[in-house]
Amino acid sequence: MMIECKKLTVNFGNGEGIRNINASFNEGEFTLLLGPTGCGKSTLMRVIYMDILPTKGHINIRKWDSRKISKRQILHLRREIGIIFQDFRLIENLSVFENVALPLIMTGHSRRIIKDRVEVILDEVGLLETWHQKAGSLSGGEKQRVAIARAIVKNPFLVLADEPTGNLDPEAANTVFELLRKINSLGTAVIMATHNYGLIEDTDYRRIYMENGSLMDL
Ligand SMILES: Nc1ncnc2c1ncn2[C@@H]1O[C@H](COP(=O)(O)OP(=O)(O)O)[C@@H](O)[C@H]1O
Ligand SMILES: [Mg+2]
Repeated sequence: MMIECKKLTVNFGNGEGIRNINASFNEGEFTLLLGPTGCGKSTLMRVIYMDILPTKGHINIRKWDSRKISKRQILHLRREIGIIFQDFRLIENLSVFENVALPLIMTGHSRRIIKDRVEVILDEVGLLETWHQKAGSLSGGEKQRVAIARAIVKNPFLVLADEPTGNLDPEAANTVFELLRKINSLGTAVIMATHNYGLIEDTDYRRIYMENGSLMDL
């Protein structure tokens, strides 16, 4: 089992972001997280990234346990999880190459390894020819593909995608979804929160529905 949530609850003070969630996620699985705005999808993703720790209950992610994990171990965990957001969160005045290289620079890889690896990944997302352009100059669809490249450059076991197509036109949304499917087919687990039902209607990926911070696994 890759992720195990037990009575997982996050309280924001003014109310619960998620409440009493019991769920597990398998290695290599593609899971769709569905439900209306405010139901707790982003909160669940943030707990998986250990960006917030549970108020009650716990989450185990591979060898990491939210009850015991140190700040240092949280950084290790995040090196093995890629994450993408609706608003891309690129550094707009850096180049495409630099944005994708950043995670490798931070973990002290050599220039040669970084160059080779970033080239391979940019080729995979179809953006090799834009490597020198400022991220801010790209279209939304291209920005999200750069964000995907940055998320997978360290070869994560899991990619968290929080409404990755929310700001994209249908064609760009399709391309981004196809890329996530390809990444998954190569062995990486994907958990994707989405409102875009048209995009996913023909897939048989596992669907998890959330409502008011709780989870319904159908
Ligand atoms: N940082 C925060 N501080 C206070 N309340 C929050 C915070 N983040 C989320 N919430 C609340 O938690 C609930 C779940 O939010 P969220 O996880 O963002 O839902 P979703 O991603 O499904 O739209 C909502 O009621 C929201 O207002
Ligand atoms: Mg959200």
